[in-house]
Order: sequence, then structure tokens, then C-alpha cells
Amino acid sequence: MSDILIRADNVSKVFHSHKEDVEAIHDFSLTVKKGEIVCIVGASGCGKSTFLNMVAGFIQPSSGRILLEGQEITKVEPRCGMIFQNYALFPWMTVIENITFGPRLKGVQKKVRHEQAKQWIKRVGLKGFDYSYPGELSGGMQQRVALTRALANEPDVLLCDEPFGALDAMTRQAMQQELLRLMYKSNQTILFITHSIDEALILSDRVVIMSARPGRVKAVFENDLPRPRKLELQLTDRYLELKRKVWSLVEEEVVSALGIRKG
Ligand SMILES: Nc1ncnc2c1ncn2[C@@H]1O[C@H](COP(=O)(O)OP(=O)(O)O)[C@@H](O)[C@H]1O
Ligand SMILES: [Mg+2]
Repeated sequence: MSDILIRADNVSKVFHSHKEDVEAIHDFSLTVKKGEIVCIVGASGCGKSTFLNMVAGFIQPSSGRILLEGQEITKVEPRCGMIFQNYALFPWMTVIENITFGPRLKGVQKKVRHEQAKQWIKRVGLKGFDYSYPGELSGGMQQRVALTRALANEPDVLLCDEPFGALDAMTRQAMQQELLRLMYKSNQTILFITHSIDEALILSDRVVIMSARPGRVKAVFENDLPRPRKLELQLTDRYLELKRKVWSLVEEEVVSALGIRKG
């Protein structure tokens, strides 16, 4: 059996609106192997969310196709779990109700889903907050609930759309370490979008750099930085060398996206 989980072949997406047509991504191809953490970086508006939303099956490509385990994705894909920048928790549900929502729909027994949820709550350090509402939690805590809610469904792939982008720098770093800790040994496949090169280098096995809109694959880096990825890694020469490389490629696209001509 092939170890490729996701395969995007020459995917383009055009949005039609009353004013004009916008080509968000063009001829975008990518494969993600089972157990791999792939980070996609690119300038704002280059089509990152559009691509992820197509993998999740929320929207369909205009041309090309995306396969999950060899099957074309044509509708909202239950094998994908997603977390977003704005947490997207149900505000009227408690932490435990949010986490057990998916398993409940799947028909997992109440006792079983509550026991599993309680374990998750403990693992992500939210013990004692089972019956709190999202509005009573900090941003970092809400994002931990969102992460847990996605993982409780045991998705084949976890799709992350800049999930830590709204958090302050310290909380963001803590969340990155938390994600790595949770994923350690579990072999979870993750497709992670970020505009932070540091985040991409800390998390990924591979970094995909997108061009300015319409988004294409501009470059792909194997990220061979040693694991576990502790924050001290960011002070090493190898890290800075990689960061410089990635940044010079991203910079060209940011400049192009902003319409700035280099002097
Ligand atoms: N539903 C939509 N209708 C029209 N245009 C859209 C829609 N979604 C995204 N776009 C446009 O597609 C481009 C890419 O958007 P997006 O994928 O959100 O970029 P990113 O996530 O990289 O910032 C942008 O120009 C955006 O305005
Ligand atoms: Mg986006």
C-alpha cells in the first residue's frame, strides 16, 4: 500500500463574484505522507485557507483533484479534523460537551465518550474546567479545547489553519510544544498552515512555500532539524541558516503580494 495519505494534483480554484473572478490557487500539487507534518507558509491572501478548505471538502476545486487515500474528496470529509484561528468552539456548550460533540454524533456511548474526553482534558492541562464555557477560558485554553475536540474524533489528518495566530507569542510557543508533545508517538498526519517561518520550522517535517496569489508551490524544504524540537534550537546555526533560506523565498512573495517594487 502507498504511504501517501493526501495527494493534490494540479488543483486550481477560481472564485466567481459579481465584480470579478479571483483565481486563488493555480496548478497546485502536493503529496502528504502518512504520519508526516507538513507546514504551508505563504503571504496573506495567497490561497492557503482555500487549499485547506478543499482538503476538508468544504469547497471543491475548479480543476484538478484532491485524493485522500486514493479517493477523491467530493464532500465534507469526516476523516479530516480541522482547527481554525478563531477556535470555533460552540459557545453554548461546556468544554466537555464541545469535546464529546463528534463522538456523540458518531454514536459513541455516553460513558465511553465522557471517559475519553476526561483523559484528553487531563492531557492538555484543563483538569477542573470540564464544565466551563468557552467564554470563561483564555485564548490559549480555548485553542487547547479546539485541538482536543478535533483529536477526539481520531481524524486521519489534522488540518490546522493558522490555529495559533491569534495567541500572544508566549502562549503560541507553549501551544506549539503542546502539539508536538501530543503528537509524539501518535504518528498523526498534520497539514498545518502558518505565516510564521519559526512555527513552520519548529513543527514540520517538510515546509511548502507558496507563491503570491494565485498560489502555487514555489519551493519545498525537507526540514531535517533534530527532534525533539526544543525552543533552544532556534539559537543554533543550522536553524538560522534554514530560516534565512525560507525567509528569502517568502520575502519575494510578500513583496510581490504587496505590489512593492524592490529598489
Ligand atoms: N469565498 C470566496 N469568494 C471570493 N474570493 C475568495 C473567497 N475565499 C477566498 N477568496 C479570495 O481568494 C484569495 C485567497 O484567499 P485565502 O485562501 O483566504 O488566502 P490565505 O489563507 O492565504 O490568506 C484571496 O484573494 C481571497 O480574497
Ligand atoms: Mg487564511
